[in-house]
Amino acid sequence: MSAAAASIKGFDASALRSDFPALQQEVNGQPLIYLDNAATTQKPQSVIDALSHYYSHDNSNVHRGAHTLSDRATLAFEDARKKVVQFINASSTKEVLWTRGTTESINLVASSYARSVLKKGDRILVSAMEHHSNIVPWQLAAQACGAEVVPIPVSENGELELEAYKVLLDERVKLVAVGHVSNALGTVNPVKEITELAHKAGAKVLIDGAQGVPHFDVDVQALDCDFYAFSGHKMYAPTGIGVLYGKESLLEQMPPYHGGGEMIKTVSFEGTTFNELPFKFEAGTPNIGGAVALAAAVDYLQALDRTALAAHEAALMQYAHDKAGQFDGLKRIGCAKTIAGAFSFLLEGVHPADVGMLLDQQGIAVRTGDHCAQPIMKQFGIPGTVRASFALYNTFEDIDALFAGLAKAKTFLL
Ligand code: ALA
Repeated sequence: MSAAAASIKGFDASALRSDFPALQQEVNGQPLIYLDNAATTQKPQSVIDALSHYYSHDNSNVHRGAHTLSDRATLAFEDARKKVVQFINASSTKEVLWTRGTTESINLVASSYARSVLKKGDRILVSAMEHHSNIVPWQLAAQACGAEVVPIPVSENGELELEAYKVLLDERVKLVAVGHVSNALGTVNPVKEITELAHKAGAKVLIDGAQGVPHFDVDVQALDCDFYAFSGHKMYAPTGIGVLYGKESLLEQMPPYHGGGEMIKTVSFEGTTFNELPFKFEAGTPNIGGAVALAAAVDYLQALDRTALAAHEAALMQYAHDKAGQFDGLKRIGCAKTIAGAFSFLLEGVHPADVGMLLDQQGIAVRTGDHCAQPIMKQFGIPGTVRASFALYNTFEDIDALFAGLAKAKTFLL
């Protein structure tokens, strides 16, 4: 397939590039080809402007001051929350909690929900392809409760084994935690089916949506998941801001995560009472500017035709897949039927870190290593992979550049 033939009608990634200042630079004397979007995306000017405007005009603390700036900051912060409610189709602002990112969102559920409900002998199922952030918080909670974290097997092509999952879903399982999209392999998991099966077995479900939200429209009510976690910085917003969606009934019953200001109603040495949702889980001064900028990122994404965007990203993936098939010595790692975002591979006889270094010298940014997913790397018997990961501004020419870069790297290394 030629690059031109692969282009999606109504979606012009090349034009969108001009919205992203960081993409307009040379790295090591070459135009930057940014293919490390699963690690973090670049930010459009509108997001940078929203952050700058907030700090230039409205900066103040929220829910506290008796002055105009504090009112403005509070309004912007709560409007941003409303925007997220609509973005993921939550039922109300009570269900959208601000966190630092996906990792903190998962830790919140592990510390508050899991520790308060798990008993000795209970189980948490996580898929074997999870990011460490969706394994370790559960291990910590399980250790504290005498519970167990059990992996759901993943096949050699990188798909979650649904039949094995069904067998594992017995009465001991209280929670299932899976990624919407694997950051290491790109596998898109059937999260709706996973959730339905878990609910039938009486278990709650958390979806790690860090790699899902940037690529698809997410409707938490349609998914019927109990928790959905994601980060701003992987969807064109700044670092340090993220979201935990939780069903109101569960969040109501959960104890606070952190103690401090804002999360209380009254404090006394006789006993403290806690604030209403969502504030019960938001101790301390939040990342107000980050929330405001995340809302600008939502605006940016929603101004695009997201169906055309998803089709564009799928076409990029197909194009990379076709090129990989013609590239001698390239082995794909993770060949699930549905893949999004991440394209992982190895070059025969070459360490991934060396490939990454030689690509960087050509201005091409990828990630190499285990991608914080050591269990699946261990299963595949590899130290890691080279991972190119795509975003809305990537073009077919970027993929041509990647493969030209790999061909050049090979001449150095082999
Ligand atoms: N989780 C991020 C990645 O996959 C950092 O690169």
